[in-house]
Amino acid sequence: MGKMVEYMPSCHSTNDSARELISNTAISEGHIVITDHQIKGRGQRGNSWLSEAGKNLTFSIVLKPSFLAVTEQFYLNMVASLAVRNGIADFTEEAKCEVKWPNDVFLNDRKVCGILIENLIKGTHFDYSIVGIGLNVNQLNISVDRATSLSKEMGCEFDLQLLLDKILHHFESLYLKLKSGNGVWVKEKYLQHLLGFRELRRFKSEFEFAGEIVDVLDSGKLKVRTQSGMQFFEFKEIEFIWN
Ligand code: BTN
Repeated sequence: MGKMVEYMPSCHSTNDSARELISNTAISEGHIVITDHQIKGRGQRGNSWLSEAGKNLTFSIVLKPSFLAVTEQFYLNMVASLAVRNGIADFTEEAKCEVKWPNDVFLNDRKVCGILIENLIKGTHFDYSIVGIGLNVNQLNISVDRATSLSKEMGCEFDLQLLLDKILHHFESLYLKLKSGNGVWVKEKYLQHLLGFRELRRFKSEFEFAGEIVDVLDSGKLKVRTQSGMQFFEFKEIEFIWN
């Protein structure tokens, strides 16, 4: 990861630039596209991703996960969010840093990183996967609800390059585990660091209810034990109620 780096002082979206590279060049796995200033950053479900120039990490990793069936796509979400979580945890031992289903990273119960994975599919398998990562690092002025940055939480500045190197290191080792057939191990680690795992919490879906996250299926569905039995939720069908 990161042996080939495409650095741009500014761009619209690193995911879009990565996609252009894929269609115009023979790009190898692990290629990184990174920018200091992302002008039209994209988030989940058509939202935009705002990031102050020069303060944060905004980058995309190009993968060729042809070993993975399309139905196993959630393993990439696990690898990506866990890699960021582990990279942050290397610098913030005393803080609570967790992955939040499906693929955000939370620091002290606030969102510090969002991930947008976009796939180019051939038949039943992946041709390319673009893993876009937006991590709030040294930005202090954050107006989005329940969002934060490393600096806000820890009260100091972080070296962007060092942090990137750590994340890429973890990403590579988790991805190689997955590639060598150790998906079960990756999932175990994901669950070990999953916000709310095996804790009684209040959730909101169609109704408000109490439940305990007990698993994440290969399809990515969240399995929650509730008073009325096990229930399964797709992305955006369920959210935490924060007190
Ligand atoms: C989310 O909505 O939580 C996902 C945000 C993903 C943002 C990153 S920043 C780098 C990459 N390029 C984009 O346009 N989006 C992703």
